[in-house]
Amino acid sequence: MRVLITGAGGQLGTDLSIHCGAEGDEVVALGRDRLDIADRSAVLDAVAAHAPDAVFNAAAWTAVDDCESDPERAFAANALGARWVAEAAGRAGAHLVHVSTDYVFDGTKDGAYNEWDTPAPRSVYGASKLAGEREVLDVASGRAAVVRTAWVMGVHGKNMLKTVLSLRDREHLAFVDDQRGSPTFTADLAVGMRRLAADRMAGMYHLTNRGSTSWYGLVREILEMAGADPGIVSPISTDQLDPPRPAPRPANSVLDDIAWRSAQLPAMPLYRDSLRSAVDALMDRHSPDKETS
Ligand SMILES: NC(=O)c1ccc[n+]([C@@H]2O[C@H](COP(=O)([O-])OP(=O)(O)OC[C@H]3O[C@@H](n4cnc5c(N)ncnc54)[C@H](OP(=O)(O)O)[C@@H]3O)[C@@H](O)[C@H]2O)c1
Repeated sequence: MRVLITGAGGQLGTDLSIHCGAEGDEVVALGRDRLDIADRSAVLDAVAAHAPDAVFNAAAWTAVDDCESDPERAFAANALGARWVAEAAGRAGAHLVHVSTDYVFDGTKDGAYNEWDTPAPRSVYGASKLAGEREVLDVASGRAAVVRTAWVMGVHGKNMLKTVLSLRDREHLAFVDDQRGSPTFTADLAVGMRRLAADRMAGMYHLTNRGSTSWYGLVREILEMAGADPGIVSPISTDQLDPPRPAPRPANSVLDDIAWRSAQLPAMPLYRDSLRSAVDALMDRHSPDKETS
């Protein structure tokens, strides 16, 4: 395939470029410096010029707290940007795979959210991402998949995993124990997204690594895998955060992947296995898997 990737400088965009390249695709990787998805004519021109078979929209304004004070910028990138990418992909006859978020849900459900649960975002970021997924499904209906994912991390870009590794020598850390989700690794997500593009599958898919935990639980696991003392981290509740975060987060954002499973697509790896590989890679260690393969 010839694939065009927006937001190619971000954590997911980087792993999409790497994975598609490794699969033999011709990759057009456009970071924000080369393509601002909020600029309609730039998007239409870029997609027409490269005539891709598939477009991956990994571009988004992901600064969840900053979105609260600048909704216009959030909706320009996350909603209108998605509209322009869908329009451009449609004109080029390219299949679109767009990325959305667990933050479209309010987190009050007992149990995991499936693809047909009703979204009710609690933050400007979540509302702008919900608008973006609706734009994609309206404008590129039948030729676009929307992938809702969660707690994204990997070895490229900025994320919680890297933050915790950089803090592992501290005497004391505190992380919330009342927000639950599924840590999801960009290398695994890239594989699933490319599969949707190659099979030209359309509609809504939830796609996260398997297993769930709280931020506190995740930080303990990272410290343990890094050979640091997990006892340095204490559990706190969201209302103990000082200062409080501007954007409210869902308490439960575990996603059920009924659509993915029922389409008999391959199960995503357990988050713990991918976490171990990522910790090893970031600490420049070789995982046992890598040594034997
Ligand atoms: N991170 C998470 O925990 C998480 C959770 C659920 C879903 N998601 C979704 O997953 C996708 C990938 O996120 P990520 O974690 O890879 O985020 P990321 O590392 O922040 O990457 C997003 C990229 O998009 C770029 N960008 C921002 N505005 C843009 C614009 N107007 N035009 C073109 N590029 C623009 C950013 O550039 P700059 O850095 O220069 O601004 C950045 O390189 C997004 O759709 C996000 O909403 C993320």
